[in-house]
Amino acid sequence: MTSTQPVALVTGASSGIGAATARRLAAAGYLVYGAARRADRLEELRGDGVLPLVVDLLEEASLTTAVEHIRAEAGRLDVLVNNAGYGEFGAVEDVPIAQARRQFEVNLFGLARLVQLSLPLMRAQGGGTIINISSVAGRVAGPLGAWYHASKFALEGFSDSLRQELAPFGVRVVVVQPGAIRTEWGAHALDSARDASGAGRYSRRVDGLARGILNPHGTQRRASSPEVIAAVIERAAKARRPRTRYALGHMARVGLTARRLLSDRLMDQATSRLMG
Ligand SMILES: NC(=O)c1ccc[n+]([C@@H]2O[C@H](COP(=O)([O-])OP(=O)(O)OC[C@H]3O[C@@H](n4cnc5c(N)ncnc54)[C@H](OP(=O)(O)O)[C@@H]3O)[C@@H](O)[C@H]2O)c1
Repeated sequence: MTSTQPVALVTGASSGIGAATARRLAAAGYLVYGAARRADRLEELRGDGVLPLVVDLLEEASLTTAVEHIRAEAGRLDVLVNNAGYGEFGAVEDVPIAQARRQFEVNLFGLARLVQLSLPLMRAQGGGTIINISSVAGRVAGPLGAWYHASKFALEGFSDSLRQELAPFGVRVVVVQPGAIRTEWGAHALDSARDASGAGRYSRRVDGLARGILNPHGTQRRASSPEVIAAVIERAAKARRPRTRYALGHMARVGLTARRLLSDRLMDQATSRLMG
């Protein structure tokens, strides 16, 4: 059966930006599948018309089953919002390489696998839109975030290449670069920094992160609502010719403009101060 509604798959729908986006697209008339690992959190979206799909980006079978489910039930996929992700923080010297690999498995390779699985559906229906949630952290890097930054910098290049590859098929590729957004992301990032580097030679820098960019009572409290990002995702999903990049949310434009204008050394000073 082919859905008469446009169909969207939103990853990371169990919280934050993904939950807001899934709700918003459902309210806008999309048939929305919301994917994540926490089934109980996904169930909370059912009342808003979002269909839960329990998916772990680290599990190949989970990804293939999810896309096959959408193909069998809805018969099409118009919008893929690759939003799921997390921040693996801590000093490069301290973070075990297995955890660094896992960061890339979720933030890049799992996302890339979903792109691979979704493309036959999109091509068969003559097009679609892939929206990759990157970050200002995909352009601007600070201390103790190397693996997160590396995964998002990689996603930026991946998306530029993909956009050009898929243009002939009518598949649009959009990058969204949020600034600081009020979600569970910051607390998880701070926990990982403390686990990896909270006690050793980088502990003062971890304290700085806790007082600075990841401070739940400071930057994180001033951070923008996830709704701000959900709104631009809806705009990009509906546009026939979306922009290649959308940067918004607390500190997004100022961060990206500074990166364009300042030298590496001046940028180091600015980010180090911000990161505590
Ligand atoms: N918040 C910010 O300030 C900010 C700024 C720039 C960019 N971003 C990006 O925005 C995206 C959404 O983050 P958020 O701020 O909304 O954070 P969040 O509230 O922590 O949500 C992250 C989502 O990713 C899902 N996820 C994590 N690991 C997964 C896995 N292995 N398999 C499937 N799903 C997984 C989580 O679901 P489960 O745990 O239920 O699986 C959750 O739904 C991320 O890519 C993040 O890097 C956030």
